Amino acid sequence: MRDITIALAKGRLAKKAMEILGEIGIDCEEMNDKDTRKLIFRNDDLCMRFFLAKANDVPTYVEYGAADIGIVGKDTILEENRKLYEVVDLNIGRCRMCVAGPPSAKELLGSGKVIRVATKYPAIAKDYFYNRKHQTVEIIKLNGSIELAPIVGLSEVIVDIVETGSTLRENGLEVLEEIVPLSARMVVNQVSMKMEQERISKLIRDLRAVIEKRNNQ
Ligand code: PRP
Repeated sequence: MRDITIALAKGRLAKKAMEILGEIGIDCEEMNDKDTRKLIFRNDDLCMRFFLAKANDVPTYVEYGAADIGIVGKDTILEENRKLYEVVDLNIGRCRMCVAGPPSAKELLGSGKVIRVATKYPAIAKDYFYNRKHQTVEIIKLNGSIELAPIVGLSEVIVDIVETGSTLRENGLEVLEEIVPLSARMVVNQVSMKMEQERISKLIRDLRAVIEKRNNQ
């Protein structure tokens, strides 16, 4: 039997995703060793391999078939816009993609002026402002601590993830518009879906059942 390879976005999401996979009998002993420098892990009994990657790279691995399956946030899926099937909402890592800024920026947003938007998600920001709001903006790509941008005058607003809202609150910013709700999703390579139809469909069915049970608790 051929191995099925699962790519997981590094960090909190991977841990929670492995917990859910554990509930449907998919686990990987090797991954629990915190000191290991290994990059790829195997469960021989299940004929499955697992690896952790930077979130943004997960859709790339899956599109090219280097991983059959990926588990990654909807934010990354939207931003990367790769050819793949999005099959399950794992309902973990829930948050929102928002336009945020100081309260005074609310007026600017509807004013028709060209405002500057700082973000780690230029594709999502562009799609939102150009295709949904039909508003011309200047998008400035940053790589982190996005909330700094309006504070130091780099941009009028930001497009960023809001989870608890505390980063915004503690910096005198607020949600001005909500773009899309986010959570972790399972994605599948389009060829793997056909070639490994039986195994992957079972995995999807089992996952959906476990998630529904979790959602009803
Ligand atoms: C994310 C996001 C916000 C923050 C939101 O940043 O970009 O800054 O979390 O969470 P909150 O609403 O619960 O405060 P992350 O911690 O991933 O780091 P980054 O700033 O380097 O992107």
